Amino acid sequence: MMAVKVAHKEEAQGQGAGKNPRRGISKKSCMGSSPEGYGGHTLEMLKCLESKGHIYALDADPIELTKTTERLQSLGYGLDILTTKQLNFANIDQVAAEGGPFDFVLADLGLSSMQIDNPDRGFTYKKEGPLDLRLNPQKGISGAQRLKEMTLEELEDMLIENADEPYAAEIASRITSELKKGTDISTTTQLREVIESALQFIPANERKEAVKKSCQRSFQALRIDVNSEFEVLHEFLEKLPNVLAKGGRVAILSFHFGEDRLVKKTFKRLLREGFYSEISTEVIRPSAEECNINSRAKSAKMRWAIKA
Ligand SMILES: C[S@@+](CC[C@H](N)C(=O)[O-])C[C@H]1O[C@@H](n2cnc3c(N)ncnc32)[C@H](O)[C@@H]1O
Repeated sequence: MMAVKVAHKEEAQGQGAGKNPRRGISKKSCMGSSPEGYGGHTLEMLKCLESKGHIYALDADPIELTKTTERLQSLGYGLDILTTKQLNFANIDQVAAEGGPFDFVLADLGLSSMQIDNPDRGFTYKKEGPLDLRLNPQKGISGAQRLKEMTLEELEDMLIENADEPYAAEIASRITSELKKGTDISTTTQLREVIESALQFIPANERKEAVKKSCQRSFQALRIDVNSEFEVLHEFLEKLPNVLAKGGRVAILSFHFGEDRLVKKTFKRLLREGFYSEISTEVIRPSAEECNINSRAKSAKMRWAIKA
């Protein structure tokens, strides 16, 4: 997630700004931003900022944040323009207390390719690894532990509410019975095998595709649960109006129907209540060309709002 505060024109033109634009920028004029993942968005924003402001970049993931910070610093973006923090974006108010209010906030939800492709993180059923699924592996409990904690009903509800899994009952029942028998479900492969065995009733010619989709949905559902992603998004959305400057903008990129619905409903309510002066009326989707270049962008949806 990224929040930005841009230097106001008069501040940027202040004493010495002609030679060194940074000198004319007060701390207040900084822009707060949170860089996630590889920091691609943050890098582009840093270029646009032309040293006239400050970006606060947040990521809950200590592993990826360290790499991103090093990468951006090696490109010449130091502490004068960029502050990176390992923080959940539900706590955006803490950053706002330091650098806000912000002129722009960009929240890019979900996972980066580096996280998905790293088998040690357990985010994908396609690679063998520990069934962890935590954005911050130093906090909370792993996906494997969470499966052991849930009742049959809770498991089924989680699969339905977080991922609309059509075979939620069958999968939940199989996970519960396997765990009762003492089967170890602590790796991505073990969970995939349990899902596969729960779907044996599907005709053989349809099974491969069905297993693939159920694995995708089940891993997504478990990840959402482990990281309390809906609760976090709710908290973030409620705090947003208080961290934005008047006229400040927020853009949220989501990759899940439930997240997009929550963003849409909250923006609408906050518009009615007078916190926003304008919100996007339509969801913004990536172009076909963009999806061709990056297939993971296919499910992306963006909405924006302007602080009243
Ligand atoms: C889709 S990636 C962002 C990619 C990035 N915008 C770029 O251009 O490279 C999403 C990032 O958000 C982080 N993230 C997801 N939920 C978060 C949360 N609640 N708080 C902080 N960071 C979060 C993930 O760890 C991940 O690094």
